This record gives sequence, structure tokens and C-alpha cells, in this order.
Amino acid sequence: MKALEEKILREGEVLPGHVLKVGSFLNQQIDVPFMNEMASEGARLFAGVPVTKVLTVEASGIALGYAVASRLNVPMVFAKKSKTANVSGDLLQAKVFSYTHNTFYTATVSAEYLTGRDTVLLVDDFLANGEALKGLAELARQGGAKIAGALIAVEKGFQKGGDALRKAGLRVESLAIIDEMSPEGGVRFRS
Ligand code: G4P
Repeated sequence: MKALEEKILREGEVLPGHVLKVGSFLNQQIDVPFMNEMASEGARLFAGVPVTKVLTVEASGIALGYAVASRLNVPMVFAKKSKTANVSGDLLQAKVFSYTHNTFYTATVSAEYLTGRDTVLLVDDFLANGEALKGLAELARQGGAKIAGALIAVEKGFQKGGDALRKAGLRVESLAIIDEMSPEGGVRFRS
């Protein structure tokens, strides 16, 4: 998505450690009209696929997940990263390793929200090593839901999670794929 690439070049900042800061529109402040544009592009990519729910993970996946679900006119479910009092009953749970934070968390969804009647579209803001996406796919599998594919805003192509998941048969659509980035050299997108 050309507009996202241009937005990253204009507003993004490459930090040391291969981290792209996009707090001005995606991770802290949300550029709502632009989020809606990304969601429309995502909905266009998955047009004709009978999605019944969008599945994402808190926190930063929620904004894009909501916008995409709104376009598809389906509910959005988000996995929680810690068990709280408002998640009860039968649970679907997947252990996810975060390379960025070097910790594990347990992605959790109440079993009532993902069932064999569902076809889910997985949505997230970033795709790096693919651990979060694998966790979401595992939650869908546990619930018996089918997976239509995954929609990602920014894929860090040099971290290979996306390519591995595609090889494994998952349809992964990323609105921008970064093949190289550094504080000195800036960002290079996959063409
Ligand atoms: P993976 O899921 O693809 O394996 O990636 P990883 O564990 O490395 O990512 C962990 C977190 O860091 C995720 O959010 C992910 O979205 C985010 N992330 C990864 N690389 C970047 C980056 O270059 N820039 C930004 N802005 N975020 C990145 P999280 O920690 O779970 O945070 P949140 O969703 O609660 O905000």
C-alpha cells in the first residue's frame, strides 16, 4: 500500500535494534482516517472470503482489528495477554514468546467467542518473527475455527516470520513489507 509506505517514510523513525517507531499513527496516537484507509485496503484484499470474525491481540492490534471488522461488518475478538477477572469460563490459551520483550505471555480468549462456526481473519499491526500470529492461529485452531488468512499493517520482512507462515500455507497480506532498515540508511520496502 503506497500510502502506508509514504506515511512510514514521512512519520516513522528507525530506532536502534531494528525497531520502527510509528507512534504518530499506529502505536500510540491513532490516525483514525488513515487507519480506516488501511482497513479498507485490507477488506478489499479479503473481499469474497466469508469471514465471520476478526481476531487480534491487545493492545496495538485492536485499532486496526476494529477498523477492519467494521468494514467487514463482523465482530472483532481480541486476545488478552493476561488473565483478568472479566475473562472466565472455558478458555482458549496459547503461549507466545515475544522476541522484542524477551518474555512469554499467554494469549487468552473465552471459548464462547471462537467456535467451529467461525472463519477468522487474523489482524495485527506488526509482524516480525510471527510468534503473535502463530499464537492467534493456535487460538483459532483450539476453538475449531477456520482461518481465512492474516492482515498485517507493517511486516518486518527481514525477520522472516511472514515468509515462514506463507510457506506453511497461511495467506498473509501485509500492507507494507520492510526488507531493510537502519537509523543511518532509513527504510527499504519490498517491491
Ligand atoms: P512477533 O510477534 O512477530 O514474533 O514479534 P515480536 O514478539 O518481536 O513483537 C512483540 C511486540 O512488538 C508486538 O507488540 C509487536 O507488534 C511489536 N513490534 C515488533 N517489532 C516492532 C517494531 O519495529 N516497531 C513497533 N512499533 N512495534 C514492533 P506488543 O509488544 O505485544 O505491544 P502492544 O501490541 O501491546 O503494543
